[in-house]
Amino acid sequence: MRKPYIAGNWKMNMTPSEGAVFAKELAKAVEGTNTKVMVAPPYVTIPAVVEALKGSDIIVAAQNMSDNLKGAFTGEVSATMLKDLGITNVILGHSERRALYGENDAFINRKVLLALSEGMEVDLCIGETLEEREAGKLEEVLSRQVEEGLKGVSAEQMQHITLAYEPVWAIGTGKTATPEDADAAHAFVRSLVEKLYNKGVAEELIIQYGGSVKASNVKALMSKEHIDGALVGGASLSVEQFLPIVNFDK
Ligand code: PGA
Repeated sequence: MRKPYIAGNWKMNMTPSEGAVFAKELAKAVEGTNTKVMVAPPYVTIPAVVEALKGSDIIVAAQNMSDNLKGAFTGEVSATMLKDLGITNVILGHSERRALYGENDAFINRKVLLALSEGMEVDLCIGETLEEREAGKLEEVLSRQVEEGLKGVSAEQMQHITLAYEPVWAIGTGKTATPEDADAAHAFVRSLVEKLYNKGVAEELIIQYGGSVKASNVKALMSKEHIDGALVGGASLSVEQFLPIVNFDK
């Protein structure tokens, strides 16, 4: 059984003081849920959120990390630093990192391997652009992102990987993939993972959907066989909007 996993990617929103207030409110609201819940604040907001969530089961993740552990890398933050704050989860390969900061599959793969060797849990994002989808390249793009992103990751290490399928054209646009389209992409990714690893790994793998997930569409998405969770951007920034997503099954 794959446990539902709902994550909130705050992106560049929430100051440390705003994050602390929000996290406290969220912790109270989601108390007792059966769903695994994660929030990913900006780096500087992480300590305040960790403090605010003491005693809560909500996982705090970073939105990114360096491909190096220390040294002359201006502006970067390492796994060592995150772990020192108690952070063991990291989102890697988000489409905004890929599109706006030029991160490619090989670079993301280096971070994935580093995070795993540092004992961290990885939420690896994949997804096609509209042009790629319209050109019939959906499977080609997903295959490349999965194969290259997971290069060198062992079957054993796959238990520390979550994949987030986020069609780029659905992120922050209000356009969601239909539950059927999303499920088809998830099924394809799962079959790919089965080919690369084995049936057991593929069946255990949590694949989240991301891209304009909200209270009104989460239930239909989560009812699909291969959709195990959601990576939520905009709607994760208010308890009012995020709570019904976490409670999609109520
Ligand atoms: P969105 O973002 O929910 O605002 O579309 C999702 C994401 O980028 O993870």
